[in-house]
Amino acid sequence: MKLLVINGPNLNMLGIREPDIYGRQDYKALIALIEETCARLGVEVECFQSNHEGAIVDRIQAAYGREDAIVINPAAYTHTSVAILDALKAVGLPAVEVHLSDVKSREDFRQISYAGKACEKTIMGKGFQGYVEAIEYLAGRCGASQN
Ligand code: DQA
Repeated sequence: MKLLVINGPNLNMLGIREPDIYGRQDYKALIALIEETCARLGVEVECFQSNHEGAIVDRIQAAYGREDAIVINPAAYTHTSVAILDALKAVGLPAVEVHLSDVKSREDFRQISYAGKACEKTIMGKGFQGYVEAIEYLAGRCGASQN
């Protein structure tokens, strides 16, 4: 099974960015945990981070015929991007939405998730562990040992 993990804008600033909300561990540590989790489950993984909406749309489109599932934290684009929603719908791959923080208990403008409408599951408020749960779910769903 091939998995694509997408992180949206400002997630490259983890560790520096609002640590009381997003934690003190950096993006590199997140990628290490994702790679370790995937290795444990026999999942082949590619991680992609961009601050640009169009680049994220391009990467989702490129997943068609190349990856089997997507974990996505669209960050701020969660609440604004119909383009990312449409791209997820276009490729039709099983997807899970992850948020480090508990978005539900935050500002009104974070209460809408467009990308989430194309995802089978949303995991929020669990920090880095949310990515582990998303990967475990998709590995079970898609059959991790299938290539
Ligand atoms: C976030 C929540 C979003 O509202 C915010 O814009 C982010 C990160 C999270 O992981 O908690 O950048 O997606």
